[in-house]
Amino acid sequence: MKPIQVGLLGIGTVGSGTFNVLTRNQEEIKGRAGRGIEITMVADLNVERARSIVGDGVQVVDDARKVIENPDIDIVIELIGGYGIAKTLVMEAIAAGKHVVTANKALLAVHGPEIFAAASAKGVMVAFEAAVAGGIPIIKALREGLTANRIEWVAGIVNGTTNFILSEMRDKGLDFEVVLKEAQRLGYAEADPTFDIEGVDAAHKVTLMSAIAFGIPVQFDKAYTEGITKLSSVDIRYAEQLGYRIKLLGITKRAAKGVELRVHPCLVPAKRLIANVEGAMNAVVVEADAVGTTLYYGQGAGSEPTASAVVADLVDVTRLHTADPTHRVPHLAFQPGAMSDEAVLPMEEVVTSYYLRMRVADQTGVLTKVTGLLAEAGISIDAVLQRESDEISGEDGNQTDLIILTHDTREGEMNATLEKIQTLPSVLAPIVRIRKEELN
Ligand code: NDP
Ligand code: HSE
Repeated sequence: MKPIQVGLLGIGTVGSGTFNVLTRNQEEIKGRAGRGIEITMVADLNVERARSIVGDGVQVVDDARKVIENPDIDIVIELIGGYGIAKTLVMEAIAAGKHVVTANKALLAVHGPEIFAAASAKGVMVAFEAAVAGGIPIIKALREGLTANRIEWVAGIVNGTTNFILSEMRDKGLDFEVVLKEAQRLGYAEADPTFDIEGVDAAHKVTLMSAIAFGIPVQFDKAYTEGITKLSSVDIRYAEQLGYRIKLLGITKRAAKGVELRVHPCLVPAKRLIANVEGAMNAVVVEADAVGTTLYYGQGAGSEPTASAVVADLVDVTRLHTADPTHRVPHLAFQPGAMSDEAVLPMEEVVTSYYLRMRVADQTGVLTKVTGLLAEAGISIDAVLQRESDEISGEDGNQTDLIILTHDTREGEMNATLEKIQTLPSVLAPIVRIRKEELN
């Protein structure tokens, strides 16, 4: 059978990795797919650079539409990124009857409903394994491997840049700004790292996992997103003393009244495997009723690790493209008629436990006042630690850090109680609150 023809839009970091992996492993890939898979056309703004990567045997153009208009192309890979031209091109490729493979989590998290609807109407596939946790086949695991299960929750370290920053802050006791510069120097962080450090990239990814895990529509606008920019190394040290590590987690959970969908820094017991995922690595834990807990670990970014997922999608599409569309794996795991209308819960309704740090006057009765207000709200305390912080010295020696770990409580309750505690004259600085997940 003649090879399936693929057009590649954007041959940057992931695009070049995809071309190289596909070329290097072509015989094995052909054996698995049942026919050859060939990138025969590439579009990139920088034609010269593209040509230097693919050589003379591949047609290189600067206009992506020429790829989409080529009737010989069956699959279009979108590796441009963003929601601008990438969205237009993906929609045009679908309209032209091409299958689409993309690593673009931002595009799918924000415009997924429109894109999947258009693809279903046209009977084409949109495959996006590389969009979540790079090389880790977590989409396949959630959508197919765990298909027997009722999934209870998914929690993941799905942004390598922020995990690298947190690891360095803990290992070397460095402050956020210093490590961010190092991450940029090493090429982990984007030139504009806002999406990484503000948790937006992780929220894109957990939004996609949530839809697949629970059969709900992709709804990024409902995700709660908090990054790591306000984290201080003093909290990382206190967490350590209490037996926890701080990680930026993307969490989606089945709760009594709906689905939780959130990204924020989180204390995780140091003994959990996921707490020991260091540097730019990614990991996702899935809790499901039949299999129990499973953990997926690997490189969440980089040229060939991400290409590994892109090429896996190419093989899937090649195997299934002649199948009746109704016999293919649904984009979001559930058949369109079986999707759930379960609501994504507002953050006030989320139930979790907390780490609280209060800079207080070192006076008799302060602890009683603070714990009294927590008790009044029915918030149960798990542990209390009082520490003379390294940062408190000299004339501030009559201050102390009061650290409280709570049991589970509703976020709305915690917000209201923290407002009251903050007004106590003996509380001398804004209270630091970090959520805590036992993940057991
Ligand atoms: P790059 O910036 O390295 O590559 C994008 C390429 O697209 C560049 O070569 C760019 O050219 C080209 N391009 C831009 N506009 C157009 C256009 N209109 N037509 C054709 N080509 C165009 O990005 P990455 O490879 O890093 O990322 C690609 C996608 O993969 C993104 O969605 C990203 O989020 C996702 N992803 C990336 C990972 C990674 O490790 N890098 C990991 C997981 C997902 P020029 O440089 O000249 O502008
Ligand atoms: N900026 C992302 C990260 C790239 O740091 O994980 C992979 O999506």
